[in-house]
Amino acid sequence: MGGFVKLKKRGANYLGLCPFHNEKTPSFTVSPSKEIYKCFGCGRSGNTISFLMEHEKFSYVEALKWLSNRYNVEVEETELSPEVKIQQQTADSLYILNAFAQKFFSGVLHNTEEGQNIGLSYLQERGFDAAVIEKFQLGYNPSAPDAFASDAIAAQYNPDLLQKSGLVVMRDGRPMDNYRGRIIFPIHSPIGKIAGFGARVIRNNDRSPKYINTPENEIYVKSKLLYGSYFARQAIDKADECLLVEGYTDVVALHQAGIENVVASGGTSLTPDQLRLIKKYTSNLTIIYDGDAAGIKAAQRGMDLAFEESLQVKLVLIPGQEDPDSYVKKIGAAAFRDFVTSNKKDFILFQLETSLAAAAGDSNQKARLVSQIAETISRINKAEDFTRQQDYIRRSSELLKIDENGLNTLVNKFIRERVGKYESKTAPKESAVETEQTEKIFLDEELDELLNRDEQQERAIIRSLLEFGLRKWDEEKTVAEYLMPELEDKEMFDNKNLYSVLDLYKAWYEQKLEPTARNFLYHEDQSLGALVVSIMDFPYEVSENWKTHYEGKIPTREELYLEEVGSTLTYLKLRKIQRLMIMNQKDLEKSRNPDEQMMFMQTHLHLKQMEKELMGRSGTVIVKI
Ligand code: UTP
Ligand code: MN
Repeated sequence: MGGFVKLKKRGANYLGLCPFHNEKTPSFTVSPSKEIYKCFGCGRSGNTISFLMEHEKFSYVEALKWLSNRYNVEVEETELSPEVKIQQQTADSLYILNAFAQKFFSGVLHNTEEGQNIGLSYLQERGFDAAVIEKFQLGYNPSAPDAFASDAIAAQYNPDLLQKSGLVVMRDGRPMDNYRGRIIFPIHSPIGKIAGFGARVIRNNDRSPKYINTPENEIYVKSKLLYGSYFARQAIDKADECLLVEGYTDVVALHQAGIENVVASGGTSLTPDQLRLIKKYTSNLTIIYDGDAAGIKAAQRGMDLAFEESLQVKLVLIPGQEDPDSYVKKIGAAAFRDFVTSNKKDFILFQLETSLAAAAGDSNQKARLVSQIAETISRINKAEDFTRQQDYIRRSSELLKIDENGLNTLVNKFIRERVGKYESKTAPKESAVETEQTEKIFLDEELDELLNRDEQQERAIIRSLLEFGLRKWDEEKTVAEYLMPELEDKEMFDNKNLYSVLDLYKAWYEQKLEPTARNFLYHEDQSLGALVVSIMDFPYEVSENWKTHYEGKIPTREELYLEEVGSTLTYLKLRKIQRLMIMNQKDLEKSRNPDEQMMFMQTHLHLKQMEKELMGRSGTVIVKI
């Protein structure tokens, strides 16, 4: 990092001006011993690899290669199985072939008579300017039967590969161009290599499809690609929003209008991989579709997934027969931006509105709808989304014309059902009967706070595991062996990413690989690495003053690890139980049904008993706040 940032030694760490934000006093700190950096100004943190990925915009593999090159470290590549090797070679060859094809098609578009008269003039007629044609590397495939094929064969590309790429098909044993007479849209991978092509007819007719796309092969995996993702990354990052449109031409037109945070799905519903790709840059997704039913249907599928990934999904419908491409050209860039901003609808509420209209007063259907929406809302159970959940409950109950409290109870029921799975596994067999006289009524803010603090406890336990997992717990077990079964239940974690860390930890542990924090830092999924950095202690210096006063008397976390592991686990469990108690309490307050009230009260006793046991075990009743 010293090669990129001027660093000064400060105690055990190094300090410099942060390269990721403007600052006058240095707050960018590098710890050589932990192999991490953290900026105390903007909060960015990571390791050598994430630094290079962020600063130099490298991919993970590019960062590794850069480092190995710079420091003359030989990168040992895993011995691949012959099948995987062949697959990789094919992938490499396909990328090379596609790059060759792109140059061919662009060359034809700009430098041949047919390309200019048919291809270029078509693009110009539609209003695409030279800069954007260049940027998206658009091209044209001549109408002659094998213009590209013969060039490619002359350049020694092998016929099997040509077929695999979809650029060439065999007709009567002879190679023919697959995209004859079409405009070519190269489809870039997220790091800018050409994975495939979309080829559009010049004049729509019924006999041939409007677009021919690359068939699935080693590098063109439709479910993992989003058209335009490479050109949109930085703009999405900056705007903290990703716009999703249907067509290639929509992406190109919006770029030309200066709206660059946009990708296209290619008219199909979003896949988990595509959602993950978006999630890397932002959690705000705005779908811009034309108002026809097919588009909305496509958007609807996959939305539960988006919701669970905590993506905030908004919908904008383009009026009339327009699509984003024609609409931005009609009303101009500024008006288009305004239109998007002021016409964003919440996707869930939009869905509710449309289904409600479809139910048209049928009370059975409406009842089903209420339960459906409660289920959906109950999926927002992450701490940071608590107010969002309340907001949905309020607005949905307005739309449905039902009691807000009733909907709230129903949502809680769904949450409890899920959390309940955790409870039933850990509950003691006999529940003691004991009545508690007065109960505190919790306010919403308290619940909110408690929910947030849960995450702190979750982070703490993962930190203990990472730092002390390989040490001895008792004569038989390591700390990891003690903790892992205790943390088995997914519901223990609100932050599912923390659960992913745990999952990987287990896998590494079982395979006898070293599940240390350091190895997480260098994991290919840098979001895991970042999470681990954020939960680890940044090493600080004990000042000289303290050292002379309390020489050798300050016990470190290291020395107290057994205590730390034990109490951290207890606190986490206590939190979960206390949270269940608060939710239960709220339901009890609302319930008007005696049987139901009875059930809530029994649940309460049950939880109280569990709490008591845990408090006893921790040897203290002081709950760390
Ligand atoms: P559209 O028909 O909206 O195409 O399909 P478009 O890109 O906006 O093209 P223009 O503006 O009419 O020229 C949306 C997307 O659906 C996929 C393509 O990815 C297209 O961009 N599609 C459509 C196909 O893959 N094949 C087709 O035959 C049609
Ligand atoms: Mn279009």
